[in-house]
Amino acid sequence: MSHTPQPLGAPLVRREGREKVTGTARYAAEHHPPGLLYGWIVPATVPSGRVTAIRTSRALALPGVHTVLTHENAPRLGQADDPVLRVLQDARVPHRGWPVALVVAGTLEAARAGADAVHVTYGTSPHDVVLTGDHPGLYTPEKANGGYPAVRTRGDAEAALAAAPVGIDATYTLGALHNHPMEPHASTARWDDGHLTVHDSSQGSTTVRDSLCQAFGLGEDHVTVVSEHVGGGFGSKGTPRPQVVLAVMAARHTGRPVQVSVPRRHMAALVGHRAPTVQRVRLGADRDGVLRAVSHEIATHTSRIKEFVEQAAVPARVMYASPHSRTVHRVAPLDVPSPSWMRAPGECPGMYALESAMDELACALGTDPVELRLRNEPVAEPDSGRPFSSRGLAACLTEGARRFGWYDRDPRPAVRQEGGQLIGTGVASATYPVLLSPSTASVHAAPDGSYTVRVNATDIGTGARTVLAQIAAAALETDQEKVTVEIGSSDLPAGSVAGGSSGTASWGTAVHKAATALVRRLAEHGGTVPPGGITATAGTEEEAGREQPYAQHAFGAHFAEVAVDSLTGEVRVRRMLGVFAAGRILNARTARSQFIGGMVMGLGMALTEGSTMDPGFGDFAERDLASYHIPTCADVTDLEAHWIEEDDPHLNPMGSKGIGEIGIVGSAAAVGNAVRHATGARLRSLPITPDTLL
Ligand code: MOS
Repeated sequence: MSHTPQPLGAPLVRREGREKVTGTARYAAEHHPPGLLYGWIVPATVPSGRVTAIRTSRALALPGVHTVLTHENAPRLGQADDPVLRVLQDARVPHRGWPVALVVAGTLEAARAGADAVHVTYGTSPHDVVLTGDHPGLYTPEKANGGYPAVRTRGDAEAALAAAPVGIDATYTLGALHNHPMEPHASTARWDDGHLTVHDSSQGSTTVRDSLCQAFGLGEDHVTVVSEHVGGGFGSKGTPRPQVVLAVMAARHTGRPVQVSVPRRHMAALVGHRAPTVQRVRLGADRDGVLRAVSHEIATHTSRIKEFVEQAAVPARVMYASPHSRTVHRVAPLDVPSPSWMRAPGECPGMYALESAMDELACALGTDPVELRLRNEPVAEPDSGRPFSSRGLAACLTEGARRFGWYDRDPRPAVRQEGGQLIGTGVASATYPVLLSPSTASVHAAPDGSYTVRVNATDIGTGARTVLAQIAAAALETDQEKVTVEIGSSDLPAGSVAGGSSGTASWGTAVHKAATALVRRLAEHGGTVPPGGITATAGTEEEAGREQPYAQHAFGAHFAEVAVDSLTGEVRVRRMLGVFAAGRILNARTARSQFIGGMVMGLGMALTEGSTMDPGFGDFAERDLASYHIPTCADVTDLEAHWIEEDDPHLNPMGSKGIGEIGIVGSAAAVGNAVRHATGARLRSLPITPDTLL
């Protein structure tokens, strides 16, 4: 073939970038089939109890209102694997905000007015919504999220902690956080001659298709779910959400297309959240800083209807060498919405605690915190004993320290002042596992020399189309401009969810295999494409199910510089620098964007974001972006993301690890450690708002 291969790693611009910035890219709520009706969810206004009566007559009398669905008249669902999807099936109210009715009307405004006119009476029971570290409802589950065992022990951590010359015993308390993607969840459902088509804002429409088939008793061939453009999700769209079930129910009930959007003020109750955690970390070390024991114990909450256990102690099984270790998760079911995935579930909150504790240990020892981490580098994965396929933590710490100018610092706390500002610097490590899910892709060669890649990948803002074209072009040894990429529909070969930082690895491996098979088939045809074209298909079932002889993780290091106003307690992050080791970087532009995005989210976690549970009201207080403070441009000044070139032969054919989540992991700890260096104050809770520092 005569073309110069487009190298993997090139900083190509997003293929759909123009559509997005010109507003022609259409999102789930921007589809308006003829005859469309709009649904508005009526949320429960009590935190625990039952619906005893629903009066819908006033709502139905309003102009434009078409119908009101309640548990009394809504279509019955078959098996729905996820309890959060079993809406309008019975009178139970498991938490405030649970949908108790759906008003369907000719306009969005009429639907909302109708929802206000529905009168619901409840029988209430006492509610319990506040997690504490010693909550009587806490129990030890079998597994935490991700399928990890809830409890792991090595050696005798208690005895080793008691015997260690230097010890840290610290408890970190994190409140709930909400994902709040820019595009709220929305679904537009329509039936045409027995075929259901749904435009859904989702991270994986194959999964949504499968859930709808199960819930409504439909065959795969009768359902198409499209997620063409998605305005972020951060995990909250990784599983189907109630609005898609409600839209399909209402479309079936009315025989008309129905759109259900989740207003931002309903999101806190309906689309999951990062569960709060109370995390006790105990470290025991020799005087030279070599760890003898690590103990990380998590208490977290889940809802009454679903067990979701934030796996925050899992990274402690990966990070540092130590002969004795104990990692434990416990969970308490409360009258709260079901928690779920939020960017780096487990690793993100867990590494906040572990990396804060490592900083506390460095302070107690008088050892440099970068040096302390280097001193505890393991030769194999501590928990499993498996060798690492590659482990770039030391390189990230060293390279980050050099770029940041780390060693210029005076290690003493609260000594660097500029005017009324106290200045400090902090460091923390990052880690995220390498995951791979089953996906299938096809690659078609046309006689004109063009190619079409088909795989149900989802682009949630990451640039999936672009990187898949690069992967295909590299395998086909052609120019990426010759490759058309079709993604975002469940009619395409099945793709895994854009989650777990595994999308590119999973879809990309399938694309690479299909493209390689196509090249072989073409060679059999003497290098000429037959008149009708030729297609090859391949999947990753085998890779996804394979037992790995190596421990595979991405690593990183964050460095932060903060200025704390000694009068007001305001913290500003002046600089943040991350260095990552994540295998081969497949597109320098979109990868940088993901790393930076994760770091910004970590900055928000450290300083501004928080969902406050109101114990009396029984719900989260923040319901909009005016009260849930995500960082703005003014909060983000000097942010740099770099990476180490990592050549790891044990990964997928592209040699890549995932990059979607590691940017947030550890970043909040780096900021907190910098605040401690600046002020001398060790805060063990986030966000660090002015009132907590004064
Ligand atoms: Mo991510 S929280 O795995 O979508």
